[in-house]
Amino acid sequence: MGSGRIVFLGVTALAIYLGYKIKCALGPPPLVTLENDTYWGPGEPNNAWKENFLITPLNITVPDEVLEYLKWRLDTHRPMVPPLEGVQQQYGMNTKLLEDVIQYWKTEYNWTERQQYLNKYPQYKINIQGLQIHVVHRNSYADGYKVVPILLLHGWPGSVREFYEMIPYLTNPQEGRKVIFEVLAPYIPGYGFSQAAAKPGLGAAQMAVLFKNMMEKLGYDKFYVQGGDFGAIILQHMAVMYPDSILGFHSNMCLVHTPKALLRLMLGTIFPSWYVRPDHYDRVYPLREKVFEFYLRESGYFHLQATKPDTLGVGMNDSPMGIAAYILEKFVTGTNISWQLREDGGLKEAFSYRDLLDNIMIYWLTQSATTSFRLYSETFNKAHTELGFMRQPITVPTACARFKYDFYTADGVLGEIFTNLLQLTDHEGGHFAAFQLPKVLADDIYDAVEKFEEYNKKRKSIMNGDVWKNA
Ligand SMILES: *[C@@H]1O[C@H](CO)[C@@H](O)[C@H](O)[C@H]1NC(C)=O
Ligand SMILES: *[C@@H]1O[C@H](CO)[C@@H](O)[C@H](O)[C@H]1NC(C)=O
Ligand SMILES: *[C@@H]1O[C@H](CO)[C@@H](O)[C@H](O)[C@H]1NC(C)=O
Repeated sequence: MGSGRIVFLGVTALAIYLGYKIKCALGPPPLVTLENDTYWGPGEPNNAWKENFLITPLNITVPDEVLEYLKWRLDTHRPMVPPLEGVQQQYGMNTKLLEDVIQYWKTEYNWTERQQYLNKYPQYKINIQGLQIHVVHRNSYADGYKVVPILLLHGWPGSVREFYEMIPYLTNPQEGRKVIFEVLAPYIPGYGFSQAAAKPGLGAAQMAVLFKNMMEKLGYDKFYVQGGDFGAIILQHMAVMYPDSILGFHSNMCLVHTPKALLRLMLGTIFPSWYVRPDHYDRVYPLREKVFEFYLRESGYFHLQATKPDTLGVGMNDSPMGIAAYILEKFVTGTNISWQLREDGGLKEAFSYRDLLDNIMIYWLTQSATTSFRLYSETFNKAHTELGFMRQPITVPTACARFKYDFYTADGVLGEIFTNLLQLTDHEGGHFAAFQLPKVLADDIYDAVEKFEEYNKKRKSIMNGDVWKNA
């Protein structure tokens, strides 16, 4: 054999090998299946939760001494370090603004009344995999409307409170609509009134299993799902794992974190139109300013929570001022990044002190700081990432609602994960869409579910052979 031929064969073999490696690196990994009954409660694992169908109705009640202690903490805190001259929220929460919030908290915020508000929807506790899950349930009925169940999942630093103004839109008949929703909105484990895991490993994938179990135990084998932030991430996992149970997936944070998408984002620095449509260039380019610098500046919290949640949690769990500052900063930057330059952070424009404090109270009263941070550690680690769920295509009918100041994913790459995207909408507004713009988000959900219903009807009739019979 001539040496030319050997070189040729060698190069060909290398090319085939590299092609295969690139294909593996760019495509989804093999789909794995998780245990569906892992026990997350304290102590010896047991299966009592499987046999026990106890669904306990309850209301939120906070003992007086806890509220008195809070009042004492607010009254006796050390003087705050004043902000630098001429600085608003660029260094984080402005302490003058925080003082204003604390003043309101001490003098006008009335927990007795807010607790009544939080108790306006029926709530239940149910034990799933050893954890007491607190779920808000709003049933609905109206003549001539089809009632469909929907699971709403919140994220960090949110809570079920974010959905309170949206629930009436979903559960009362809306003009011109055909469906009406039965809402199930659980606090995710370690957040607010749901018990936190006692054992390591409860990340987004494992929470997807837990909420599927919850829905099953509550008697729903098929349902719609909606979420933003970590709720959306948990639901992306759920849509991969249980496509047959999910009638449709509505997300206000559709994420595509695939190597291919990243490659296209990079190539877009040369030709932006390879990645993003022209009217959205400025959402991601120039990459250095809009992505790299932006994430470096705004994602410190993420790195801390994903690596040392317990250290960070000590102060955040202890100090009501601390957790308030930490959470409020996110409501400023997540709602409209340019509000960093405002003295009032825009807080009263998009929300109200009262409603923001409801959410902060839910964290402080239930001591959720540390346990909520841990979701980042349990999700953004090597073992969890290697499960590869975030790289799997999602086949269930999906709707993505993109809010202007939220994480952005370009139209062209959405299809890499959401292979059955039936609706893509753009809205003004920020990361906390349900809380900030309940009517806008509710309308978007209705629009999507009408499309999902239509799609599912067609698919069902094809599977039943109706199409052939009618032909
Ligand atoms: C919760 O409070 C509401 C309103 O006060 C009341 O009607 C309901 O019976 C309470 N539920 C439970 C389980 O205590
Ligand atoms: C707080 O709200 C409760 C319930 O609405 C009301 O009875 C009470 O008077 C309020 N307290 C203050 C100090 O306004
Ligand atoms: C965001 O803030 C900027 C500057 O204050 C303002 O011009 C813009 O209208 C805001 N956008 C929304 C959706 O509120």
